[in-house]
Amino acid sequence: MKALYPGTFDPVTNGHIDIIERASKIFEEVIVAVAANLEKTPLFNTDERLDMLRQSCSHLKQVRVNSLEGLLVDCVRDQGVKVIVKGLRAVSDFEYEFQMAAMNRQLAQDVDTVFMMTSVQWQYLSSSIVKEIAMLDGDVNGLVPGLVAQRLGEKVSERRG
Ligand code: COA
Repeated sequence: MKALYPGTFDPVTNGHIDIIERASKIFEEVIVAVAANLEKTPLFNTDERLDMLRQSCSHLKQVRVNSLEGLLVDCVRDQGVKVIVKGLRAVSDFEYEFQMAAMNRQLAQDVDTVFMMTSVQWQYLSSSIVKEIAMLDGDVNGLVPGLVAQRLGEKVSERRG
């Protein structure tokens, strides 16, 4: 069975990789779908986010990384997928995720959302917090794949001109 794991991934963190690795042990194929989230202004453009994810998942043969345009349920249908995977970090994630899962089910009744608990060591992590640490010259090694730490460093230098 195939599953689709959507997110903004601006940038991908070790918490996301943890979910992708664990999902790929459960599902035959995992499509990681990189969204252009309309409510967020990403630091990295879609191509940069796709590239970081593809490189970070290159060790996982059953993982594909694509972009997500438009509604999640349309993308899910186009790819012939019946399961959406989402990671839950804390109780605070629940309300928003519950709303999204219910709405997606309303829009596509044959599609289910499966929640995976984020591993304890990544419970506190988010892409925003990683960006903030990088922008303030903190060390993000250990929070994101090595390549992402490098790209964040380059972005910070670029922004400072
Ligand atoms: N480890 C670490 N961090 C995690 C994590 C994990 N396992 N899971 C989530 N996070 C972080 C993310 O990095 C993100 O951080 P940020 O807010 O600082 O960027 C935050 O938790 C929220 O993640 P998520 O809930 O996955 O949101 P998202 O913005 O990454 O993705 C979409 C949201 C793309 C899935 C959603 O907007 C969508 O489906 N869009 C398509 C349009 C659509 O269909 N809309 C109608 C929906 S009903």
